[in-house]
Formats: sequence, C-alpha cells, structure tokens
Amino acid sequence: MTDSVEIGTPTDTKEVTANPVLTRVLNEPATHFRSEGDVNTTQARQAWNESLNHQTTQALLRRDSEVFLHQAMSTPCLDSLEAADGIYLQDSSGKKYMDFHGNNVHQLGYGHPHVIKKITEQMASLPFSPRRFTNETAVQCAEKLTQICGGELNRVLFAPGGTSVIGMALKLARHVTNNFKVVSLWDSFHGASLDAISVGGEACFREGMGPLMAGVERIPPAVSYRGAFPNPNASNNDNNQASDVHYADYLEYVIEKEGGIGAFIAEAVRNTDVQVPSKAYWKRIREICDKHNVLLIIDDIPNGMGRSGEWFTHQAFDIEPDILCIGKGLGGGLIPIAAMITKDKFNTATQVSLGHYTHEKSPLGCAAALATIEVIEQEKLLDKTQSDSKFMREQLLRMKEKYPVIGDVRGIGLLWGVELVTDKTAKTRAFDEAEATLYQCLNNGLSFKVSQGNVIQLSPPLIISRADLQAALNIFENAIQQVCIDFNYI
Ligand SMILES: Cc1ncc(COP(=O)(O)O)c(C=O)c1O
Repeated sequence: MTDSVEIGTPTDTKEVTANPVLTRVLNEPATHFRSEGDVNTTQARQAWNESLNHQTTQALLRRDSEVFLHQAMSTPCLDSLEAADGIYLQDSSGKKYMDFHGNNVHQLGYGHPHVIKKITEQMASLPFSPRRFTNETAVQCAEKLTQICGGELNRVLFAPGGTSVIGMALKLARHVTNNFKVVSLWDSFHGASLDAISVGGEACFREGMGPLMAGVERIPPAVSYRGAFPNPNASNNDNNQASDVHYADYLEYVIEKEGGIGAFIAEAVRNTDVQVPSKAYWKRIREICDKHNVLLIIDDIPNGMGRSGEWFTHQAFDIEPDILCIGKGLGGGLIPIAAMITKDKFNTATQVSLGHYTHEKSPLGCAAALATIEVIEQEKLLDKTQSDSKFMREQLLRMKEKYPVIGDVRGIGLLWGVELVTDKTAKTRAFDEAEATLYQCLNNGLSFKVSQGNVIQLSPPLIISRADLQAALNIFENAIQQVCIDFNYI
C-alpha cells in the first residue's frame, strides 16, 4: 500500500512518510504543489471535509473518491454540487456559495438564459457537424471572433479545450518559423497534456513524466511583488510603471544566446496568482519578437472574454499577439470550446493537421460562444467590469492598509489577487492564514481559489451586481479580520 498512496487520498502519517511526493506536500506546504491551486491534502482541508455535516454530501464524496482515478488536487473534493445559477453554486445540502473561481468559465455566471436559449435552438436543428462539412453557426462565430479581436487576427481554428489549442499554437509556430524551440515563463500553466507541461513553468506537472518536448527555455516572469529580479527603484504597487521591462529584455538575451527560437508563449496576465506586467513590458516583448522573427503566443484561455475589462487581455496592453489562444468562458460556462486565432499570413499549414479534433466546428460550442459574445455586448459587461475593477481596487487597497496580513493587492478588471504574508517586510508567505481565510469564507458562502498557497484569487462572475460584490467583499474582510485575530496579528 505504501508505494501506491495517491495524492489527495486521506492517509495516515506512516503512509505519508513512505511517499516522497506526498511527504513534501504535507510537511513542506511551501512547495510547488501549492502553485496551481489550493492543496487539498492538508489537515485544515480534512477538518473542512469532516465539517460537511450532511449525509448525502458525505456519501457522494465517498463514492467520488471510490470511482474516480485520483490525481493531484482533484480528490478529495471540496463539496458536492446540486445546482448552479447566476453567481451561485448550490451544494447537496442546499447551501449556496458565491463563486469567485468558476474555473474561469463563469464570466456570465451559470445558466445564462440567453446562452441556454441559443444552445437549445441549436441542439434542435444541427447538434453536430462532422469533419468535411461546415455550418452557419461555426462560420458566424469565427467571423465574430475576428471582429472583436480586431487588427490582423482574422484566422480561426476551434478545438474542444484550451490545452488542445495550446498544442495547435505550438505546432503552427513550428510550421511558420521552421524553429521548434520555445521560450516560456517560469510558474506558467498552459494545460496538463505532455506538450503543454513541456512548455509550462511549473515543475510539479513534469515530475516523473520522463522525456518531454525538447527545446523549451524558461525565463522569469515579470512579478511585481516578489520577482526574481526585483527592481530596487520600484514600489510594491506600481504595476503600471515601467519597472519590469528588464524581465522582457531577458527574452532577447535568451533568444540571442540559444538560437532557433520559434515562439514565446505567455499569458498577458497570469491568472493563477494574478501577475499584471506593465504596458511597457508587453511593448518590449512585442518589439523583441518582431526583431527576431519569434511568434508571440498569448494564452488568454482563463482571462479572455472580458475578464480584464477588454475582450482579450492583450488589448489592455495595446499589443497584438501572432497567435491568440482562448477557451474556458468562451462557451458561456455551458459548452466546452476553445479557439486559436491567428493572422492571414500564417494561413500556410494546408498540408499539416494542426488540430483535427472531432468537435472542431462544433455547432453547439459555437452557438454558446456567439450567445456569450451577445450577452457581453448587450449587458455592456466590458464597461461594467472596468467600473467594478475600480471599486474592487479601492476596497482591497483599503483592506491592505488596515490588516497586517495583507502584503499585496493586484489585479485587472475583475481578477484580483490578495497576497497574504506573515510579515510585510520579509514577505513570508502566510499559508495557514490563507487556508483559514478560505474555509472561513466557504463557511459564509464565498468560494475562491488560493494560488501559490498564499494568494487569494478573487474572480467574480462579470454579471455580479454591485450589492453582491459588496456582500462578497464583506465576507472576505470579516474572514481576514478573524484570521488576524486568530493568528495574533491584531
Ligand atoms: C492559462 C491556461 N492555459 C491553458 C489551460 C488549459 O485549458 P483547458 O483546461 O481548457 O484544457 C488553462 C486551464 O486552467 C489555463 O489556466
């Protein structure tokens, strides 16, 4: 038994110490297992699970654990769900959570009536479109996407999920440049398939996986609060100042030293722990890619479709990628669909199967995407997001001044990261405090994700009312206050 202990399986100490990976997770919670999401194997998680005092829930959690193949961060689950509507998830006991995570499919919340209507109509007419045929809905969706992208981005390829689109983008870059090497960012996540983990910057996803895609160089990301190359002249909160351009310069250094680089891949804003580079950083990256004929691949899978207050995040930085990858909320939280959008001049891979996915020109996925775009337009969600963004910034910065445990607040649109530290000078990550905040908020009906173990990611549905946003921030502030008391900060 000891050799086969699964990460995520409740287990006793003897078993834990026999498994080196799990031992690290539990005994050194600062490790990289914290980076992609909240670790679900801690004692605090066990206590939370035991606190779910509801028979149906406990039974379902047990059956889930018995039937699903265990993997990191999936089992045991947080709770069991019965319904989702608008900004709310509802669990099996009837308890509601405002969902400030939503796996980034929740721009419109859950079950938006317009999206449901359009999908239902599509289902009744053309539910599937086999390869070799086209259909009106898919063409319209692709046309609409090129319109909201603007600029030169006018060629689209659909796929059933974000990871697949990343694979297609890497293949297209190889085809176009004849260079197979890629530069990516440390700490980045682009999906969990073999090609995506090859370019991803989180070592935990590669651990034990053997030979991967060759030719990947990683450089440090522009991280304002605790970057690898801190700028001594920068203050903590000057994301929009050009204090991070030296991180971009490093890309040129690697391109020149290594040679044979075909692509640079990055999120315009890293979603997990909300890292927002400056406009100057992105301008410099664009300039370097142009100079060296390196394709700029922007992964906007979690943040696209309005989260930044723009349709796509790169638009906030006034640059254009060569390949844009989108997904997640593209399907309105109802249908899985993703897309790669690129330029006419790269429409040259006619003899290469870049994607070749069964659900490529999916009428249902495209109906969902079109309806999602219509809702964002009709409900003016981009403007609303920009206005809500200012409100969240003010509220969170006020909390940062008030509570010693908040070391940094950063964000864009309706994506905010609140970094908890035990000491504002040393910036020591406050893991236990972040976990305590999570469970306290869950108790009071607010769900979110914790990244890097100490960064609370607040990512509300874009449709949220100001009153609900205020209510959620009140729950969050009460939790932070309680944590400050419980951990003797105040
Ligand atoms: C930045 C980023 N890229 C790619 C992916 C992979 O997308 P999918 O899970 O749809 O394959 C994710 C998923 O979380 C992501 O956050």
